[in-house]
Amino acid sequence: MGIPDEPIIEIRPLTLEDIPNLPEIRPTYRADTILSLERSGSGYLVSWRLSERRLAQPFDKGGLYDFTPEAQAGIRERLKRGTAAYQRVAVLNGTRRVGLLDMTWQAWNETAFIWNLMVDLDFRRQGIGRRLWHLAVRAARAWNARAITLETQQTNIDACRFYARMGCRLVGLDEGMYANPTESPDAPITEFALFWAYPLR
Ligand SMILES: CC(C)(COP(=O)(O)OP(=O)(O)OC[C@H]1O[C@@H](n2cnc3c(N)ncnc32)[C@H](O)[C@@H]1OP(=O)(O)O)[C@@H](O)C(=O)NCCC(=O)NCCS
Repeated sequence: MGIPDEPIIEIRPLTLEDIPNLPEIRPTYRADTILSLERSGSGYLVSWRLSERRLAQPFDKGGLYDFTPEAQAGIRERLKRGTAAYQRVAVLNGTRRVGLLDMTWQAWNETAFIWNLMVDLDFRRQGIGRRLWHLAVRAARAWNARAITLETQQTNIDACRFYARMGCRLVGLDEGMYANPTESPDAPITEFALFWAYPLR
């Protein structure tokens, strides 16, 4: 009996043919803890405080990150931007797509914006996210970008840990991104946006 071959994960440029096959990558997640937001003050003298909170029931992202036809249309539109987009797929043994990086150049503020950095459920914690991230940094430097910016939600604690580990700084939040800000933000869980930046110059 031979020794089974090591799986090979190659990262290559995204092509138009990849796009309808992106649902092979399952980008969903579950979280046992989330970041919770406390707001104090009023008017423009407001403070926000984040803390990590354990949930009684895990949060399940379900299909919200899925590669729907609308999401695919966005990725296709960005692919058409040529050198102002940097999109890579991670492919297992030349057949199955297991990761995606989807980033564009934003000339107006000299930043690179990551729309998607996703690794399939079964392929996480194997360094694929880190490989995609390092490629993103290299591409953003080639654009002479000032920074890489991106958004996560407070329910996505794995992504928060990942980006913090990659050296990103949490630079802001938007509690009104997905719902109207309320005085009792946690019942039930209302997602809000966290913004991250990785300075390059
Ligand atoms: C965030 C995500 C891309 C990370 O990809 P990944 O391939 O699992 O990440 P890596 O294996 O390269 O992890 C690199 C480092 O990040 C940190 N990290 C990654 N996932 C982590 C987790 N769940 N908990 C704690 N630390 C984590 C670790 O320090 C890890 O290094 P280590 O494994 O040597 O400890 C992946 O979890 C994912 O696809 N999530 C769903 C989609 C998503 O949320 N994308 C980001 C928003 S666009």
